[in-house]
Amino acid sequence: MLVNLSHILAKADREKYAIGGFNMTTLESAMAIVEAGEQEKSPIILQISEKTIDYMGLDLAFAIAKTLADGSEVPVCIHFDHGRNFELVQKATDIGFSSVMLDVSKMEKNERIKFVKEFTTRAHHRKITVEAEEDQIGGREDYVDGNRGHFTDPKRAAQFVKETDVDCFAVSIGSTHGKPLPNEELDLDLLKEIDKVVEVPLVLHGASSTDEKVLKEAISLGICKINIDTDLRLAFTRELRRTLKDADIYDPREEMRPSRDEIRDEVIKHIRLFGCDGKA
Ligand code: G3H
Ligand code: 13P
Ligand code: ZN
Repeated sequence: MLVNLSHILAKADREKYAIGGFNMTTLESAMAIVEAGEQEKSPIILQISEKTIDYMGLDLAFAIAKTLADGSEVPVCIHFDHGRNFELVQKATDIGFSSVMLDVSKMEKNERIKFVKEFTTRAHHRKITVEAEEDQIGGREDYVDGNRGHFTDPKRAAQFVKETDVDCFAVSIGSTHGKPLPNEELDLDLLKEIDKVVEVPLVLHGASSTDEKVLKEAISLGICKINIDTDLRLAFTRELRRTLKDADIYDPREEMRPSRDEIRDEVIKHIRLFGCDGKA
């Protein structure tokens, strides 16, 4: 069943658990993510990035996600991750994505609020939810300036959310995209300050390989959506390398299935850690 973000995040916020935003990179990963949600009776946020759209095209990526959402008994939100090509994000809303992320961290500061507000107003008319990232999040995106200059300022975040009416807000508190960087550490005191003044559910990006205790604490401090991509890619690749060692296997379906199952198990592990099992 296709849902938007506010439908599932409001309850997570009230009951203090988080829902995973899992990135689909291939058909196999999309299948594995939804299968994990069904097995654990958990809501699922199925995320599609611009790179995945480059790989398989917007229509096919959406068709895969929508077919899985329609056939599923658990709530599935189809979410555009890190939208920076805003024409493409607009197209995604036109073909039926239930949710989008506007990553305006590269836009001129004085243009951000007006743009996000107008986009969000149009999206809300169609019951499409909007997540926003204003401050750069480090890692694969190569954003980190090394001096915390990109960390979220609580007061500015509160004003941004109030003026734009977005449904959830991605914090920049030290997590990084991709494999962990040396000295990566979440500033949980800053998170506490942000949660005090920002009224919408908070989102943590770049959560792969983050210490489980730290993630649990972040959830207790207001994080309701946690994005995981790299851990799924690693699980898939690790298993594929193992499978390919067997020279007798030369059927792509036999090569893919063990890797697909590894993604499913990785998603299940995160669902249980985030406390959203049984919350569908
Ligand atoms: O935060 C970025 C996501 O992990 C998407 O990564 O652009 O390589 O698909 P990608
Ligand atoms: P990781 O790849 O570090 O898990 O980050 C995922 C993410 O933030 C997707 O938006
Ligand atoms: Zn991200």
